Amino acid sequence: MFSRIFNKVHLFTISIFGILVSACSRDDLNVRQSTLDPKGPVAKMQFDVFMDTVWLVLVLFAIVGGLLVYAVIRFRARAGEDTRPKVEEGHGNPLVEIGLITASIGALVFIAIPTLSAIWYTDDVPAEAIPASKLSAWYQHLDENGKENYPKALAGDVLEIDVIGKQWWFRFEYPQLGLTADAKHTVPNEIVIPRGKAVRLNLRSEDVIHSFWLPKIAGKVDLMPGRKNKMWIQADQVGHYYGQCAEFCGDSHAYMLFRCNVVEPEEFAKWVKAQKAEAAPVEPNSKAEKGKALFAAKTCAMCHNISGHFGAGNFAPDLTHVASRRSLAGAWLDNRDRKAQLALEVQTKNTESTTPVDPAVLKANLIKWIGSSGTSHGIDGQPTKDVKPGNRMHYYKMFNVVSLNESHQQFTAEELDCLAEYLLTLK
Ligand code: CUA
Repeated sequence: MFSRIFNKVHLFTISIFGILVSACSRDDLNVRQSTLDPKGPVAKMQFDVFMDTVWLVLVLFAIVGGLLVYAVIRFRARAGEDTRPKVEEGHGNPLVEIGLITASIGALVFIAIPTLSAIWYTDDVPAEAIPASKLSAWYQHLDENGKENYPKALAGDVLEIDVIGKQWWFRFEYPQLGLTADAKHTVPNEIVIPRGKAVRLNLRSEDVIHSFWLPKIAGKVDLMPGRKNKMWIQADQVGHYYGQCAEFCGDSHAYMLFRCNVVEPEEFAKWVKAQKAEAAPVEPNSKAEKGKALFAAKTCAMCHNISGHFGAGNFAPDLTHVASRRSLAGAWLDNRDRKAQLALEVQTKNTESTTPVDPAVLKANLIKWIGSSGTSHGIDGQPTKDVKPGNRMHYYKMFNVVSLNESHQQFTAEELDCLAEYLLTLK
């Protein structure tokens, strides 16, 4: 009986171990949000701390496991043998105790050195060039050419980006470049940075605590109300990266994502210029024009800014360039062709490769997003149909004096179509 159960347990352990080991190819680690595939110096530094810990734990596991196996075999009961303990039980051996305490302290120090240096390193762009040997306590990183690949980032040449957390999306501002709330140019949910440039992130929140986490580039520092935090990032490889809020912040915490586009410096300059452009006039007597009128009538314009058309605050994401973004709804909905995107990722073996926005997918997403929000959001015990449960768009009813007493006013299919057509013009 016992041996049968033991065999089953054994089989189970072996299969789990097999599954874990089989999952450990280098390609499998290259998933969209992987801390094991660092693409920048801060992420590399953090990866090192992780590996230091893994190695230490493996050594401890081998020692403790080895002693256990030794004891089980050496002192096992044999058939027909007297099973009473032959060894006199010991108690309070000072040498063993002091030895164990010393070993524990040694293990903690072994972990503390790289951990503390990584914390200091993450906090801000290094003020002066630091020799490779000082950057990581135990490892040196060499690129394909055998060169040390930590950056010689200097505090004098840093791109400043303000990161503001909201329920449930991120707002990015570039104060040095005039992309700010005051200038009516803010960037929601898709941060864009030039490759190889040190970027200082000034983190804060306008409601509850959120956390900035861009696994392949760096993580993870909290965005807090009434307090400024900072960290720095640098991406050494062009591509489209996936980030996530990493602090529970309410209903749609799990849907509070963001993206990071790492581009060549020339392309970055072009992007900044494009962000400052105002929305073009819509074609007269078109669906888009109807949509624009609806945008005002349905009070969308009270929260969303569209430079050149509507000048509202920053309560909701700026939509001046919404049709150029690869994601929608706090990066939860993807505006690219899913099949084409996955095929490209498989082909390049790289989740940073990206396809452009697909207008058909974008339109479907816009309709899904606007059409679900503010209709059935889990009140009155009804299950939510919202793309993002609890999202703030359902409050539009509060501002709409006319419909205040109507319950769950919805857009008609035609209205949704017009709104989507209007938003599609905002490139
Ligand atoms: Cu914001 Cu979780």
